[in-house]
Amino acid sequence: MASTRREGRGTEMTRREVLRRFLALGLALPGGAALLAACGGREQPAATTGAQPQPTVGQAGQTPTAAGQAEDKLEIFSWWTNPGEADGLQALFDIFKQRKPGVEIINATVAGGAGTNAKAVLVTRMQGGNPPDSFQVHAGQELIGTWVVAGKMEPINDLFEQEGWNKVMPKTLLDQISYKGEFYSVPVNIHRSNMLWYNKQVFEANNLEPPKTLDDFYQVAEKLKAAGVTPLSVGGKDKFEVPHLFEDLLLAVFGPKDYAALFTDPGMWENDERIDQAIETLDRFLSYANEDRSALSWADAAQRIIDGSAAMTIMGDWAYGYFINKGAKPGQVFGWAPSPGTDGSFLWLSDSFGLPKGAPHRTNAIEWLKVCGSREGQDAFNPKKGSIPARTDPDKSKYDEYLQYSIERFAQDALAPSVVHGAAANEAYMTDYGNALNVFSASRDKNQLKAMLIEAAGELKGTAQ
Ligand code: GAL
Repeated sequence: MASTRREGRGTEMTRREVLRRFLALGLALPGGAALLAACGGREQPAATTGAQPQPTVGQAGQTPTAAGQAEDKLEIFSWWTNPGEADGLQALFDIFKQRKPGVEIINATVAGGAGTNAKAVLVTRMQGGNPPDSFQVHAGQELIGTWVVAGKMEPINDLFEQEGWNKVMPKTLLDQISYKGEFYSVPVNIHRSNMLWYNKQVFEANNLEPPKTLDDFYQVAEKLKAAGVTPLSVGGKDKFEVPHLFEDLLLAVFGPKDYAALFTDPGMWENDERIDQAIETLDRFLSYANEDRSALSWADAAQRIIDGSAAMTIMGDWAYGYFINKGAKPGQVFGWAPSPGTDGSFLWLSDSFGLPKGAPHRTNAIEWLKVCGSREGQDAFNPKKGSIPARTDPDKSKYDEYLQYSIERFAQDALAPSVVHGAAANEAYMTDYGNALNVFSASRDKNQLKAMLIEAAGELKGTAQ
């Protein structure tokens, strides 16, 4: 059992180790004084938005952009390489290019769903004093616990003030991008984690309705299995897919309030018997899933719904962006419903971009952030991405049926933060939680999963608020 576990840790451990070393090293480097100051809350200069940018207080050895110095590049770091998400990114680039025609955009992507690979590369770059101009980061603990507390980001309050973003973004979201009264990133969207996507024809041919409850799911899955169709399409290649499925099942078993409590009251992982129920549920869901998970990305798993070789997949609504890109007609080729047992809850996450200290092209980075936060930018990005705008004042005519539904659900449902996508818990916890689920995907050892989840919960103590 112990050896399975050690093997299973593989790349996940590497990411966590890199992160730990980075945090420890940062405090010991010549720039450590600045980091310590930031951790202690000493004021950092705010990002300004005028033609004469303030030089940043960079780390030792970095040359801040000189005021007025020509900047001909902008490097944007993300993991958006799949159909749908890459289209959304391009739409933002197009607007930036209209505003700054002479600037070359370097699209620095590292493939891998949920940023599994990208985040490790980013840590190495930040550690080496080589930040991109701006990078994709989830609102919540992924931003605050990893980068802000380490003193690696510039606060951008002036930009928020100037652009009026604090008046047009929901408080729930603003709370997740601020620390000690300062804003640190610009959210471009809100995604929903707890969605079920299904093949319309397969459901019609078998006289099925999308499952509302966990029991409905088992009944539907049995019928599909009897009809020779794989009921559930699940990926595993990027190591976030099974952890993602489990967060949706935790939500189904615990409900939104107690689900959220799991990340603030770590003792629940050991003492609440609903954990056993959630593990049982996952085991049962996986018994209806394809076996070749480790070869499949989330996008490959979604493709099987379009092809009809599988009937359902449970994935965030970036899958919607994928389906649209592939020309699959919503409501005809595929349909959607909240993942079983979670109707009335919206498991949310938000992609955002921030301003790292020492950004080589800081003026352009600020211009990029302005595009990200603008109504024009969000209305171009989100319809392609499959997400809803972070702003509450979109041009609704640009959003189709699914997205209008999602906008409405976000306004009315109980909100709960995604753990896999950075909102609920710190990076070290996310890594251990993810690793436990990936080991389980192969081993199906329920006792081992529980033990690993209890151990992971130890990382939840001391989360920065
Ligand atoms: C999430 C991210 C989404 C999408 C997805 C798949 O973590 O927030 O924007 O990219 O991963 O890669």
